[in-house]
Amino acid sequence: MNAPSQADPSRRPVRSFVLRQGRMTAAQERAFAELWPRYGIDWQPGTHLDLAGVFGNRRPVALEIGFGNGDSLAEMAAADPERNWLGVEVHGPGVGHLLLEIERRGLANLRVVRHDAVELLAQGITPGALERVQLFFPDPWPKTRHHKRRILSGAFLNLLGRVIRPGGTFHAATDWGPYAEQMLAVLDATGSPFINTAGPGRYAERPAERPLTRFERRGVRLGHQVRDLVFRRR
Ligand SMILES: C[S@@+](CC[C@H](N)C(=O)[O-])C[C@H]1O[C@@H](n2cnc3c(N)ncnc32)[C@H](O)[C@@H]1O
Repeated sequence: MNAPSQADPSRRPVRSFVLRQGRMTAAQERAFAELWPRYGIDWQPGTHLDLAGVFGNRRPVALEIGFGNGDSLAEMAAADPERNWLGVEVHGPGVGHLLLEIERRGLANLRVVRHDAVELLAQGITPGALERVQLFFPDPWPKTRHHKRRILSGAFLNLLGRVIRPGGTFHAATDWGPYAEQMLAVLDATGSPFINTAGPGRYAERPAERPLTRFERRGVRLGHQVRDLVFRRR
């Protein structure tokens, strides 16, 4: 039996990314050949991931969406070995970079899916299977006509509400002011499955465990203000 129709990719033409794969370095090519079988997950749309099987234990699982080059995700996984970490990213060189970092750090608690995160959430994750989801510096899509490409929408919120277990966390960060406001409005809206840990309408203190990311560094260089949003699943 395949995916429910609402998650059928052919019916969802607006994606949050445009795939420009860029060139892989020789090391990243090697990573795909040698490390993907160890740290990559060949997820098939329409099937549920067996997270306990993937990690070999039943520890809580944190998912990072759009990890970029993965350096900050690897750092978080290394700092928190009691948790399982899963990254989902579409950009090949970024995935290759993270595979190399997993090997370099010898991480046993981090695995990678190379796919559209929206499809993964809609079709691949059992309800309540995640303890945490993090979305750091998602593409801001600044032009008004592109706003529909922003990943954090009402529909996405419903997907998050389904996969994050009660009491679990959704943590977002952005350096793009108008997107931060949109995130807050969506997450704080009446009927939202999440409660704002900072109080309604407020941004959170930056959690100490969140490392500086590559895109954050760029935003800071440009003088942008960074905002964190930390919400708890009801
Ligand atoms: C602006 S970058 C931020 C990367 C990283 N989080 C950071 O802060 O450095 C956004 C990333 O999200 C990825 N992305 C966008 N939409 C995605 C989706 N639907 N599924 C998986 N990855 C996605 C892009 O490929 C890109 O690497």
